[in-house]
This record gives sequence, C-alpha cells and structure tokens, in this order.
Amino acid sequence: MAVLVLKLLGLGYQRRLSLQFPNKSRPHSRGEYNVYSTFQSHEPEFDYLKSLEIEEKINKIRWLPQQNAAHFLLSTNDKTIKLWKISERDKRAEGYNLKDEDGRLRDPFRITALRVPILKPMDLMVEASPRRIFANAHTYHINSISVNSDHETYLSADDLRINLWHLEITDRSFNIVDIKPVNMEELTEVITAAEFHPRQCNVFVYSSSKGTVRLCDMRSSALCDRHSKFFEEPEDPSSRSFFSEIISSISDVKFSHSGRYMMTRDYLSVKVWDLNMETRPVETYQVHEYLRSKLCSLYENDCIFDKFECCWNGSDGALMTGSYNNFFRMFDRSTRRDVTLEASRESSKPRAILKPRKVCTGGKRKKDEISVDSLDFNKKILHTAWHPLQNIIAVAATNNLYIFQDKVN
Ligand SMILES: *[C@@H]1O[C@H](CO)[C@@H](O)[C@H](O)[C@H]1NC(C)=O
Ligand SMILES: *[C@@H]1O[C@H](CO)[C@@H](O)[C@H](O)[C@H]1NC(C)=O
Repeated sequence: MAVLVLKLLGLGYQRRLSLQFPNKSRPHSRGEYNVYSTFQSHEPEFDYLKSLEIEEKINKIRWLPQQNAAHFLLSTNDKTIKLWKISERDKRAEGYNLKDEDGRLRDPFRITALRVPILKPMDLMVEASPRRIFANAHTYHINSISVNSDHETYLSADDLRINLWHLEITDRSFNIVDIKPVNMEELTEVITAAEFHPRQCNVFVYSSSKGTVRLCDMRSSALCDRHSKFFEEPEDPSSRSFFSEIISSISDVKFSHSGRYMMTRDYLSVKVWDLNMETRPVETYQVHEYLRSKLCSLYENDCIFDKFECCWNGSDGALMTGSYNNFFRMFDRSTRRDVTLEASRESSKPRAILKPRKVCTGGKRKKDEISVDSLDFNKKILHTAWHPLQNIIAVAATNNLYIFQDKVN
C-alpha cells in the first residue's frame, strides 16, 4: 500500500471536520489528497439545567447516501446532532437587472435595458451549511448515530437510551430502547454502540459494556426493551480475572455490507458473528494479545477504557481495527492472514510502501521488531474507515488523518 497524504488538522482533536477528496484539477496524479473543506461543526455550549459544559468535541460522523451532487452528513457531540450539507460552487451569476455586481440594489428609474444574467466560472468553493439541528433528546452522552436503510430515519444512542429520528423533523424523536433502571444504584450495564441493519429498516443492534449484543425488531413493539436476539460468548472460567468484565466491553459493532454478519470490537479482539447464531462468534481475531499481561498498567493509565472502532472492507472479505503505537491491524477472512501496519510520518511519503510491523513479547528481539515495553500508549488509532468500493482506507491517529491505498502504478 502506498501512502497518500498526511494532513495535520492542527485544530484540536476532531473539533473541526476536515474532508479530504482527491484534487480534482489533477485527476491523473493519483495518490495525492488535499483538504477539501474544513468547517466548525459544533461550538462549546452550556447546559444550564445541569450546570455542565458541553464540549464541542465530535463523537461520531455518518454520511447519508448520496442523492445529488451535494454530500450530506450527520455529526454529533455529546448532546446535539447536526445535519450538514456540503456542496460545491464553481460558477456565479453576473448581470442582474435589479442589483449591481456588489449586490447593491440599483435605482429602478435608471434601469433602461433588460439584461440576461450569465454564469461566469470562478474558483471552486466548497460550502458547508447546517440543515437541521436535533437537540434536547439525550440525558447521557451520545455514543452512536446510524442512518437507516430507508434513508428517512436514523437512530442516536447514549449510555442508557436509543432514540429514533426522522431526518426532516427536529423537534421530536421516539425512544426505542430504555435500559435505565428505576434505581440507578442497580445499574450494571450501559449501551456502548448501536447500528441499523444495512438492508432491513426494522432491525437494529446495540452492544453493551457486558460484552453482549442485542438485536431488536421494531415491528414487534414500539419500545424495543425486549430484544429478538441476544449474542453472547460464554465466558471461559479459567481466564477470569479482575479485568474480564472491562476488557469484554464492546466498543464498536458494525454490520457487514451483506447484512449477514456483524463484527464487534472488544479491548483485545475482533469477533465476527453470524446473525443466525447467537451462542458464539464464527470468527475471532486477536488484535494485540500481547497486552493481556499488561492490563494492570493499562488500567492505571486508563487506556483499558479506550474505545477502538472496527470496519469491514467493501466486499466484507477483510476487517480492520486500530491498536497502540499508531499501529493498525488488518485481517483477511478467507486466508486468516493478518498484518500490523503503522501510520507514521516517516512512512507517509507519497508512494512509499508500508512495511508490516511486528511486536515481540519476551525473548530475543529481532531486527525490525518492537518490544511490548516500548510501545507508545499515547499514540492510538481509534477511528478507521474503508472505502466502500475501492481498496482505500482512512486511519485517524490523534490529530493526523492518513489515507492509504492499494499500490498504484
Ligand atoms: C490541485 O492541483 C492544482 C494543479 O496542480 C494546484 O494548482 C492546486 O493548488 C491543487 N489544489 C489544492 C487544493 O491543493
Ligand atoms: C476485501 O478484501 C478481500 C480479501 O482481502 C479482497 O479479496 C477484496 O478484493 C477486498 N474488497 C475490496 C472492495 O477492496
């Protein structure tokens, strides 16, 4: 894979959205990306009722299916979801009758001739405009948003509740899951992620901090507190420890494009589940098993609570997820081969090839290997995305976004 670009967003972690698209004026130079548009999605707010500051930090971004030349996306911070339209403008109208070129109204008595306005080309302008603001529906922090396959509704999930919205309606949403116990002292489990099925608009899943996934069918009842399917792997009693529950918490759940499988990410592994089998996953991949002996220090520095995302490639044949030291892992499902790669500035020269990395655990360290003890736990790849049709990936490493793509000639 060749590195395409490294772009320093430089504006604090994920506060601003920067979209990267290939440079259209140089269509033949594959392998170079520029920032397409940057805009402020959320501003800091204050919740007067609870005397809490709401950070502008963006928790999730979701694209809507494209229906015309413009792109639409949903972005959310802890409390407020926004729908944005991103559109291009490369022409402007000139020769209006009622106003002059600066936009000032002309004196109607001095208009003597009728002009036909003409379109003049101008430098490409990318505009981001807020279209809808969906606020005041979440008491706890929003961790997921997911657009439904009906293209009309979406869900938003916080620690204890999931709401269903219509994309056009901002002043009301429907609560479809509520796991808040009457007595908060009985709270044992929180919702960690939720997603709609890619094809069946009545089906969605949500994962929990106890390592389980519940599949719900909105046709069976309006409030989906009772699940239709419950996915849980029986715990191996021999490996039980103080950290078992923490590391089994699911940080991300993603349906395959086909809708047949789903993937979950917990602290140490990625699991693939067949929707028709609830008792155990059909595939399990170790992400960084060498950390099992380090859980104590990862608990002390809070890393054990990091929320790693995971993603499928366009044809569901491969999986990707992040790790520490700016490493990310890719798994080929049919050959069961896996690779560890690193997102770094050194390796990000255009057309450079990424070298597989290896972590050594004890014993003699070979050349090119890195020992577990020298991994940098402040450098982590939590967010990854795979292009839906091509072999192009995006990897977010703190303030940097790396885009890598399959070898090009
Ligand atoms: C895109 O490529 C053209 C032609 O090389 C260059 O002039 C332009 O600055 C590039 N655009 C951006 C946004 O970098
Ligand atoms: C997804 O990964 C599989 C296995 O590596 C590969 O055969 C397939 O071409 C990939 N699909 C896309 C769209 O990149």
